[in-house]
Amino acid sequence: MNHFATALNAVCPYYTMFPLEFPLGVLARRRQPKQWVLDPFCGRGTTTFAARLLGLPSVGLDSNPLAAALAAAKVPRVSARQVLATARYILHQHPEASDIPRGAFWRYVYNPTTLGQLCRLREGLLESRDTEARIVLRAILLGALHGPLSQNGTSYFSNQCPRTYAPKPRYALNFWKSRGLTPPRVDVPRVIQSRAIRYLREQPSAVNGILRVGDARSLHAYADLPPISYVITSPPYYGMRTYRQDQWLRHWFLGEPAAVDYSAKDTDFAHSSPDAFIRQLADVWKNVRGVCKRDAMLVVRFGGIHDRKCDPVAMLKESLSLANWNLVTIRSAGTALDGRRQASQFLETTKTPRLEYDFYAIR
Ligand SMILES: C[S@@+](CC[C@H](N)C(=O)[O-])C[C@H]1O[C@@H](n2cnc3c(N)ncnc32)[C@H](O)[C@@H]1O
Repeated sequence: MNHFATALNAVCPYYTMFPLEFPLGVLARRRQPKQWVLDPFCGRGTTTFAARLLGLPSVGLDSNPLAAALAAAKVPRVSARQVLATARYILHQHPEASDIPRGAFWRYVYNPTTLGQLCRLREGLLESRDTEARIVLRAILLGALHGPLSQNGTSYFSNQCPRTYAPKPRYALNFWKSRGLTPPRVDVPRVIQSRAIRYLREQPSAVNGILRVGDARSLHAYADLPPISYVITSPPYYGMRTYRQDQWLRHWFLGEPAAVDYSAKDTDFAHSSPDAFIRQLADVWKNVRGVCKRDAMLVVRFGGIHDRKCDPVAMLKESLSLANWNLVTIRSAGTALDGRRQASQFLETTKTPRLEYDFYAIR
C-alpha cells in the first residue's frame, strides 16, 4: 500500500490501536462492493480507514469522544487547502478567545500567542463542526496539541511533552522548570498547513461513513444502521483500563474542562470479574448480530494482560457462544510486545509478552 495514501490514519495518536494491516487483511480477501463494515469499539478509526482504502462504507462506534472525533476524520476527502482556509476563517471569525485557561501549567505548556490561537480555533470548532474540513482540521489540531520540541517549530504547539499522552500538570511544571524549558512561539496556521499537506497529499476516494459516540453494550447505539457484512473490532481487554486522564489535553480541546478530572470514573467496561466482563462482551456481540446480514462475519482481536489470571481465549469463546455467533477459527496475532500490537500501548512498563488472538465467527 502506498505510504502517502495511508498517512491520514496516523493523524493523531490514540492509546489503543491495532495495525492497519489487520482489518485490511480481513477485508481485502473477501469483500464485495458496497458491503458495510462495522467496528463497535472503533478507537481512532483503523477499521474505518481500512474500509475506505478498499472503497467500502463503514460504521464506527466508540464511547470515547476523542476516538469518535479521530475516526470521523478518516472518512471525508478534503484538501489541505480547504483545511487551512477553514482554520484561517475561524481565526478571522474569532479575533479573540472568550475562554483562555489560566495558571502556571498553561503559561508553561503553550506560548501565550499560541494558546490564544488554539483557544480561538477550539471555540470556533465547538460552535460548529458541520463541515468535512472542520472535522479533519479538528483531528489535525488534536494530533499537534502536544509533543516533543522541534528545531524548526513546525511539529507541535506545546513545550516539551510526550506525543501520545498529556502530562499531569504538577509533574510537567517540575520537568519544564528544572530544565529551563519554555514554550515555543509556534505559527499555528503553518503547523496546520504542513500537517494537512502531509496527511492529505494523497488519499483514497471518499466513502460513506457513520461515526457515533455511544456505548456498544446499549442497543440504542445501533439504531437505524444499514445491514452489516463485516464486523472487525477489538474490545477492551480484561483488566486493562483506558486511562482517559492521560488524554486530558485533547479532551479539553474537545470541550471538557481545562483540568485533569482525577475523580473521573472509568466509563468503559466493568472489570469486576471475568464473568461480568464476559456478559458485557456478549451483550455487544448480541447487539452487533442484530444489525448484521445473515452471512456476516465477525473478527475480533483480543488478548490478555500480565496482571490478571484469566484466559482470554476462554473468555472470548464464551462471550461469542452466549451471543449465538459460530466460532470458526482462532489465530494467533503474535504477542503484545512484537511491536504495533494493540496491547503494547498499555504495556510500556512490562516485559512480559502476552499473546493476542484473532477470533473469526459467522452469524
Ligand atoms: C482496544 S480499543 C480499539 C482500538 C482500535 N482498534 C484502533 O485501532 O484504534 C477499544 C476501544 O473501545 C472503546 N470502548 C470501551 N468501552 C466501550 C463501550 N462500552 N462502548 C463503546 N466503546 C467502548 C475505548 O474507548 C477504545 O477506544
